[in-house]
Amino acid sequence: MANPTCTELPSWAKLNRHREELAKTSVRELFTRDPSRFDALSARIELGRGGSTMLVDYSKQRADASTIALLCALARDAGLETHRDRMFAGERINTTENRPVLHVALRNRSGRAIMVDGEDVMPLVNRALEHMRTASDAVRSGAHRGYTGHRIEDVVNIGIGGSDLGPLMVTEALKPYGNGGPRVHFVSNVDGTHMAETLRGLDPTRTLFLVASKTFTTQETLENAKTARAWFLERAKNEKHVAKHFFALSTNTKEVSAFGIAPENMFVFWDWVGGRYSLWSSIGLSIAMAVGFDRFEELLEGAHVIDEHFRTAPLEKNVPALLGLLGIWNASFWGSACHAVLPYDQYLHRLPAYLQQADMESNGKGLRADGGPVGCDTGPVLFGEPGTNGQHAFYQLIHQGTRVIPCDFLIAAQSHNPLGRHQELLLANVLAQAEALMRGKTVAEARAELEASGAKGDLDLLARHKSFSGSRPSTLFLYDRLDPRTLGAIIALYEHRVFVMGSIWGINSFDQWGVELGKQLANKILPELASGAAKGAHDGSTSGLIGEVRRRLGRG
Ligand code: F6P
Repeated sequence: MANPTCTELPSWAKLNRHREELAKTSVRELFTRDPSRFDALSARIELGRGGSTMLVDYSKQRADASTIALLCALARDAGLETHRDRMFAGERINTTENRPVLHVALRNRSGRAIMVDGEDVMPLVNRALEHMRTASDAVRSGAHRGYTGHRIEDVVNIGIGGSDLGPLMVTEALKPYGNGGPRVHFVSNVDGTHMAETLRGLDPTRTLFLVASKTFTTQETLENAKTARAWFLERAKNEKHVAKHFFALSTNTKEVSAFGIAPENMFVFWDWVGGRYSLWSSIGLSIAMAVGFDRFEELLEGAHVIDEHFRTAPLEKNVPALLGLLGIWNASFWGSACHAVLPYDQYLHRLPAYLQQADMESNGKGLRADGGPVGCDTGPVLFGEPGTNGQHAFYQLIHQGTRVIPCDFLIAAQSHNPLGRHQELLLANVLAQAEALMRGKTVAEARAELEASGAKGDLDLLARHKSFSGSRPSTLFLYDRLDPRTLGAIIALYEHRVFVMGSIWGINSFDQWGVELGKQLANKILPELASGAAKGAHDGSTSGLIGEVRRRLGRG
């Protein structure tokens, strides 16, 4: 018999009824009724060494204590805890690729064995980490030099998707920790402009390329790596110099050596690390080079704190579980098709882009792992920008649009750049936005304000335009300072949130078959741009466009 879909679980129907009841009361009213709501619906996570604590306030969600109890019942009905335990135990929960899912092993600082097929993978992980430490120390100290004896001043990571977005986001976020390390650049797009603009001004004798690709078969990355090698050899002339200037970060030894990178310059990881979960592996070498290996280890430690919390805390107190369940609540019960991530932290400006892959490539699916339809809406569209910029761009829609868009706000109490009153302004703004979304403003309140200001004209009409529905849900993450440990914790919280949501929906969050068709067709079209497409090879639009491109390139 097929497994029940989440919508067939007894708790699902209860949650639906509960939502109908709750919808009758504004969140503002819930705060008025319950003065302890903030304490009841927020959590503090100790991030370990250094004594820093992260506060996660979800009291502005459309939820109360009974919502949380019902959502936890749903998690139990759906077998979330079992699924979580199977992940940590190294079981092959990525069923369509027949792989375990063990990014948690990469940051396992506990000394606990993690087994795959009867073998403890921790010695392998620790060896790979040591390799990264040696290489990053050598580059940062100047012990590793280019073929002319110059220090490495620029590191270029060539990768795409998970082999780009994580390291790029983290190196941007941890810029204050560079401390004399090399400049780090990222080239991902197959658009030659990305490579050309990155290489402009770089000196091949002082540049190190990290070719980052789990599979080492990704078209964009291999093309970019070839171009980088040609650029390097134009100056170096001799292939033997490639060894000092090209490292590979990959699971695919065969393809790495076919590309001409020596085995000692290959930094390994394993197929049980998903691409979008790989920044903790050797894919993070650019991070270690940018900020030093000790800081990279702190990043791992922050994530490990969350892993241990996720693994052991009861659901009612388990922050990633609650974040995931509230995600389900918003997406599948209230029908929110979007989710905004709004870091009030310029250093986190690439967090939304990183999370787009982490979340949308993981849970943008309509089939359950067992092949049946999920039965409800799944992964929402994730987007975001740092505050306060977003306020002057798309927040209008979040406040008054017809769609309700749940928001995550992230903010540090202390800035790395304490200039004048900038941080105070940032803090005031983030708190104000979360409050405004929750509180709203009634027509009567808007009208009273207009009258008090002596406004003239059709005040009733104006008051309606100036009113806000309120009850627009948000969660706020407040931390002391964006240090490596805190960042590691934030990323791990989001990773497990994705896991929780996928588990409830019954999705395999660890494959990505949806990216394949476009890749196949691009391979088919590439030669057709040179030679033309056979009649009937494509639909009318695609054939027409191939012809149009060829004419514009003077080929047809
Ligand atoms: O096309 C999607 C994808 O497979 C991602 O999942 C992955 O992160 C990215 O491509 C890059 O893959 P690789 O690291 O193998 O080059």
